[in-house]
Amino acid sequence: MFWFDKDNPLVDFQDIRDETCMLSDGQTCIVSPNIIGDFTSMAMPDKSYKLVVWDPPHLVWAGKASNLYKMFGKLNDWHVDLKKGFDECMRVLDDYGVLIFKWSDTQLKVKTVIKAIGQAPLFGHKTSRHCIWMAYMKIPQE
Ligand SMILES: C[S@@+](CC[C@H](N)C(=O)[O-])C[C@H]1O[C@@H](n2cnc3c(N)ncnc32)[C@H](O)[C@@H]1O
Repeated sequence: MFWFDKDNPLVDFQDIRDETCMLSDGQTCIVSPNIIGDFTSMAMPDKSYKLVVWDPPHLVWAGKASNLYKMFGKLNDWHVDLKKGFDECMRVLDDYGVLIFKWSDTQLKVKTVIKAIGQAPLFGHKTSRHCIWMAYMKIPQE
């Protein structure tokens, strides 16, 4: 939804599903990635990207028939999913690569999420009451 060019050939769009859902207002939600994959265990080699944008589900509970669930999915074991996902994003990033992590704190506060991930961002910016965009850089370890 947030991509200006949803077919940008420079982007590997990854999601765990490829499906079209009907929302309660009759609109459709199309999830059509070019890579089907799990962010907790990605197929990409180490250090393969300069930029990773990670927008995981932010819900830990949601009715399966709800629009929110259909559009954004839900975390299973949020602590494990977010920690593994963050570690995978950093693994596939090249040295000094940048991770943009988007979070919506409607159910889990951003402080709680950062604690689970184990690393604070360099900076972050709230773009609405609940939505925050955060930036990390992969600094190579000696
Ligand atoms: C907040 S939405 C992403 C919206 C996307 N950024 C956009 O602009 O359209 C979260 C997405 O994560 C996907 N997802 C959930 N669990 C996943 C996992 N383990 N690995 C990869 N994608 C996952 C969901 O299917 C859902 O489409």
